[in-house]
Amino acid sequence: MNKETLEKYPDLINLTKQEPYLWINPDKKPVSMVLPKLSVSFDDMVDASMRLKRFAPFLTELFPELKKSDGIIESELLFAEKLLEKQFQNIPGKLIIKADHALPVAGSVKARGGIYEVLLFAEETAKKHGLLKENESYIRLLDEDVKNCFKKYTVSVGSTGNLGISIGVTAKTLGFASKVHMSIEAKEWKKERLRDKGVEVVEHKSDYSKAVYEGRKAALNNPNEYFVDDENSLPLFLGYSVAALRLKEQLKKKEINVNIENPLFVYLPCGVGGAPCGIAFGLKQVFGDDVHCFFAEPMQSPCMMLGLITGFENNLSVYDIGLTNQTCADGLAVSAPSVLAGTLIKNLISGSFTVADETLYEELKKLYELEKIRIEPSAAAGFVGPKYLTSESGQKYLKENNIDLTNSTHILWTTGGSLVPEIEFHNFLR
Ligand SMILES: Cc1ncc(COP(=O)(O)O)c(C=O)c1O
Repeated sequence: MNKETLEKYPDLINLTKQEPYLWINPDKKPVSMVLPKLSVSFDDMVDASMRLKRFAPFLTELFPELKKSDGIIESELLFAEKLLEKQFQNIPGKLIIKADHALPVAGSVKARGGIYEVLLFAEETAKKHGLLKENESYIRLLDEDVKNCFKKYTVSVGSTGNLGISIGVTAKTLGFASKVHMSIEAKEWKKERLRDKGVEVVEHKSDYSKAVYEGRKAALNNPNEYFVDDENSLPLFLGYSVAALRLKEQLKKKEINVNIENPLFVYLPCGVGGAPCGIAFGLKQVFGDDVHCFFAEPMQSPCMMLGLITGFENNLSVYDIGLTNQTCADGLAVSAPSVLAGTLIKNLISGSFTVADETLYEELKKLYELEKIRIEPSAAAGFVGPKYLTSESGQKYLKENNIDLTNSTHILWTTGGSLVPEIEFHNFLR
């Protein structure tokens, strides 16, 4: 890293020390000052949620696994009592797991946003060809003439794996051709799973940012190809944000209040940022200043923290500050953040922290042993979040924000893992 950059952003030195680090956002402001100025609103999120509701009967026809939830793709809230007992004795409050590792269809947090964007594209394409009228039921999209139209289009994406599964499986099931550009860290089983579904997998020897770049470029040559741009997609962002509206209902059912005396802390694994920023945006819309969202990133790939510290000004990547982007958290192995998602969240997020790879494996193992829940390494990144609150910077954050943790709730967002094959999972444990 050059001297000028370091002088301008002294916080960056902490990212290069190869030690776990909690960064507290000095630019966080009350929601009343931030939300009205954003280009995306509460109504946009509600619109996405309504569209997903309208699509629910259609999705039930397409994915039989969605019958029991009436076509809504949502995960459970799980009380992690054993984990709380063993791991978090000195942190008061409730500990809950938001089980996105088991989201239907795609087995990861990428299901909500990915499926939403493919559905939106399907709706627009059908309308463009006069095959779907305004307010007509989406069941119409099951008809043969619509399928014949869809098969002329390709939906493509660049991915470290999980977004590829979400987009590839959905696009293919709807009748589109599908192509997934996979970065070097993408796991072999994820590629196999896609090939088995008839999705074309393009393997890149480069990292995620380059795979996205190549995918985007290739799509430009084909007027019938729609590229889902993980670095730059509002539909993805809105699809993810819907989780917040649903979480509100889930917490209400469990009689968990969120207000100034009952603050909510949410720890979100972060790669390029689309999913965690979308969820955090939704949470701030729903719970306002009573929710405190933190991102969790691998020590070698803290791209969102880098973007937040530098105000997304210089397009720096983790390589520019001497990090390797090598991590066992394949879903979080991203060298540069989404500027779109990061800019929307930069005054709302409480902070971001880094996690060592060894810790990811340890947390994954503990969760399995104590709660019999299987997650992948990326999904374990948030687990150290509550402990960070006991650190000096964590305590300072609590004090400055007048937060009493006595009646707090902490949500560990487990973002992927239910599709991991048995043998891979046992390798993680080993
Ligand atoms: C398991 C898992 N968790 C979290 C993320 C982070 O999502 P994003 O890249 O949108 O920040 C990913 C991304 O692929 C993932 O696969």
